[in-house]
Amino acid sequence: MNAADVFSQFHKPLSRPLSMVTCYDSNFASILDEAGIDVLLVGDSVANVMLGHARTADIGMQEMLHHTRAVRRGAPEACIVTDLPFGADNTPELAASNSALMVQAGADAVKLEGCLPDQVRAIRKLGIEVVGHLGLLPQTATSLKQTGRSPEEQARILADAKSLEEAGCCAIVLEHVPVEFGERVTEALSIPTIGIGAGNKCAGQVLVLHDLLGLTTRQPPFVRRYADLRTQALSALKSYHADVASRHFPS
Ligand code: KIV
Repeated sequence: MNAADVFSQFHKPLSRPLSMVTCYDSNFASILDEAGIDVLLVGDSVANVMLGHARTADIGMQEMLHHTRAVRRGAPEACIVTDLPFGADNTPELAASNSALMVQAGADAVKLEGCLPDQVRAIRKLGIEVVGHLGLLPQTATSLKQTGRSPEEQARILADAKSLEEAGCCAIVLEHVPVEFGERVTEALSIPTIGIGAGNKCAGQVLVLHDLLGLTTRQPPFVRRYADLRTQALSALKSYHADVASRHFPS
């Protein structure tokens, strides 16, 4: 699937916003695909959400390739974007060769954090689509506070967004910025912005799957929980434990 074709449908005044959700395994990939989610993101948030690390920067290419293969197995037809993990895009050459590995593993596009136009150009030379990521950058952030509040910060993020667009990105994730600023960036670009904590004027929205489903205990304030699966899982497992202990299972 050509990720640019998918993203390009979502930056027209009358188009509905695009839905993107993180995904790390094959079972959930099939559920997200069946639910009609437009794009599955194999996010490096897999580090915290699934693997128990403190930071997204704690994982590397091998983990991301492993999870990308799993997601592709579960959703053969889906549009899949995979994060280049911390360090995997240190130079344009490294970013390009690592992106090629992600595509071999099943990704339709890669996502990289920060303003790295040379890396974007090198990846695009291989014909691989790239999604940018600006605003709060979890791989290097020292706090989770909102970005893009001051005029200086806004000018920098806007310039970065334009530079990524010029370099060939097909979309830009915009994380944790003020709503009005999310709208301003969206209007200034001709590629879609995918917001996470960036207001409802972006061309699309992305959430971390486990936050959305209520499987995590701590979530950022901008997350909306659509289910409370942690409570349901706990209740199911306690019932199973009690049934085993009391010989009510198997019956
Ligand atoms: O890894 C991730 O989950 C992400 C989202 C926050 C967009 O990059």
